[in-house]
Amino acid sequence: MPEQKTFYVTTPIYYPSGNMHIGHTYTTVAADTISRFKKMTGYKTYFLTGTDEHGEKIERKAGDAGMAPKAFIDGIVEETKKLWQLMHIEYDDFIRTTDERHVKAVQKIFRQLYDQGDIYKSEYEGQYCVPCEAFWTPSQIKEGNLCPDCERPTELVKEESYFFRMSKYQDWLINHIETHPEFIQPQSRANEMLQNFLRPGLQDLSVSRTSFKWGVPVDFDPEHVVYVWIDALSNYITALGYGADHDELFKTFWPAQVHLVGKEIVRFHTIYWPILLHALGLPLPKQIFAHGWLLFGGDKMSKSKGNVEYAQPVVARYGADALRYYLMREMPFGADGNYTNEAFLTRMNADLANDLGNLVSRTVAMIEKYFGGVVSAPQGYQPVDQALMNQATALPAKVEKAMDGLQFSQALQEIWHLVGESNRYIDQTQPWVLGRTEETKPRLQTVLYVLAECIRYVAVLIGPVMPTTPARIYEQLGLQDDSLKTWASLAAFGGLPAGIRVQKGDALFPRVDIAKEMEALAAEKQAQAPEPSQEEAPAAEAKPTITIDDFDKLDLRVAEVLACEKVPKSDKLLNFTLKVGEETRTVLSGIAQFYQPEQLVGKKVVLLANLAPRKIRGIESQGMILSAALDDDSALSLLTTQSDIAPGASIS
Ligand code: ME8
Ligand code: MG
Repeated sequence: MPEQKTFYVTTPIYYPSGNMHIGHTYTTVAADTISRFKKMTGYKTYFLTGTDEHGEKIERKAGDAGMAPKAFIDGIVEETKKLWQLMHIEYDDFIRTTDERHVKAVQKIFRQLYDQGDIYKSEYEGQYCVPCEAFWTPSQIKEGNLCPDCERPTELVKEESYFFRMSKYQDWLINHIETHPEFIQPQSRANEMLQNFLRPGLQDLSVSRTSFKWGVPVDFDPEHVVYVWIDALSNYITALGYGADHDELFKTFWPAQVHLVGKEIVRFHTIYWPILLHALGLPLPKQIFAHGWLLFGGDKMSKSKGNVEYAQPVVARYGADALRYYLMREMPFGADGNYTNEAFLTRMNADLANDLGNLVSRTVAMIEKYFGGVVSAPQGYQPVDQALMNQATALPAKVEKAMDGLQFSQALQEIWHLVGESNRYIDQTQPWVLGRTEETKPRLQTVLYVLAECIRYVAVLIGPVMPTTPARIYEQLGLQDDSLKTWASLAAFGGLPAGIRVQKGDALFPRVDIAKEMEALAAEKQAQAPEPSQEEAPAAEAKPTITIDDFDKLDLRVAEVLACEKVPKSDKLLNFTLKVGEETRTVLSGIAQFYQPEQLVGKKVVLLANLAPRKIRGIESQGMILSAALDDDSALSLLTTQSDIAPGASIS
């Protein structure tokens, strides 16, 4: 027997600095889809996901919540696993970088690289972005020492550090990328890496830190923890048992067929990771595929920006399959796209409720009406039947081609083409006319058989994207034989056995009132804390004691409200124009439920003036206006000064 072909796919391991949103859901659904597809087409698959738990960012987040890092993370990991279950994600393993198996293996990898001279000890000075866990050189850094990726302020760090000799492998990597066009996809990303990073020349990479503790200790120099990206990237092999006694999985599944990643972390996966593997004497993954971003109001949806949508409320109302379909269908894999509830609902109504739902319900209803629910054998085919049948039989190969190129949207378009043609076939053949006379009944038998068989094709082919819908369709068709639910069963048209009995069921997807649903979703979002559990402000007594130096870090100022207006399309936000000394600032504050904007003009408020600016709904907010609020948000009052004082006065 020939050995079964293997397929190993991974998602990034996500930072558990907050709960996973629709962006993370997107990558994970894509990985699940390709894994299910490969499994259905005969591969032995392995699908890995997990969490990237070390680093300064997590350490600080946990500290802010007054918790130990591990305790903080555990809650988020639990939520994450629940979310993947809700989304019907069938991963084979979930690795956490705090797993002992991982920590041990990373230490071993680091030691080997040191022993063979790829890692050496020296001193580091440079700008570091904590949210991105990335170092930037002076040429990369944006004006004002802002991170070129997330545009937040970076920090100057100077410390003893281990370095990896990246430059040693640069020419080898350039050659590998140039001779393996499939290695970095889409191709434009490969050009970007070559032009921006590889051809200008690689710097040696700082691969350890001494400024914080929350990481994998370098076992031969425990003052140092391993740089979080070296720690994180290694997950793809440590999860398979690389460096452990039992490495059967590693032997079976490495190299990976594809690492799915968002485009912002391509650099780490296509430069550091291949070099690391090559230095270890290991083969490279076949492909890194960089997909685009889900945008929210034109900006990348992101935990650190807080402009996110979550999958849970959508799934609770419409089911996981509808959301999975939308994510895989809406934008080509590789391109950016906006996520909006409106676009989701519109597509659900059009593609799922109308096109697919109606095809199934009309066909089943007609089989019931004209043949007492029994699928009858076809009685000879006409050209109009043949045309549709040919489309159905040609479809699996088209879907396979698109899926193999990770063009999920294309694959679904192909399938929906058959759905559309089947609906058109009903209009062409007019079964309701054929049903009027006995002489045309045989013709009607053929038409309804062709339709039912096309529906079976569709049900099988949508399985990787929509894992629960096929069973609901088979139930309505009355199809029980599992061998007719496989990819292989689509090799020839006509597998559906005559004599089975259809069973009318609920609509596969309800048609919804878009405006009403948008309101309901918005209300649900409002009702929920912006970030569940861990992100809630800790109770007052839970905050740690601080020193006067801590307090001195706050630049608190009196500011005068020059203008104030509602932010369009937001129920919560007011846009303030403030006078602070000689300066004018824009600050957003989420207090619209409590104040009429015009009431506030001329008022003196308290401003936290040195808070890092952040963009909300495309507007940069330059500080924070302080107010007092009850825990349940039932009342709120702006802070002000007891007597009049010039704007700009400092508060201590
Ligand atoms: O980068 N649109 O973790 P992370 C599309 N721990 N995809 C998105 C997205 C969006 N708006 N937001 C997040 C890290 N993603 C590292 C990875 S891997 C060795 C270490 C998805 O929590 C997308 O896959 O910031 C992106 O690359 C990933 O989540 C980043 O997750
Ligand atoms: Mg990120």
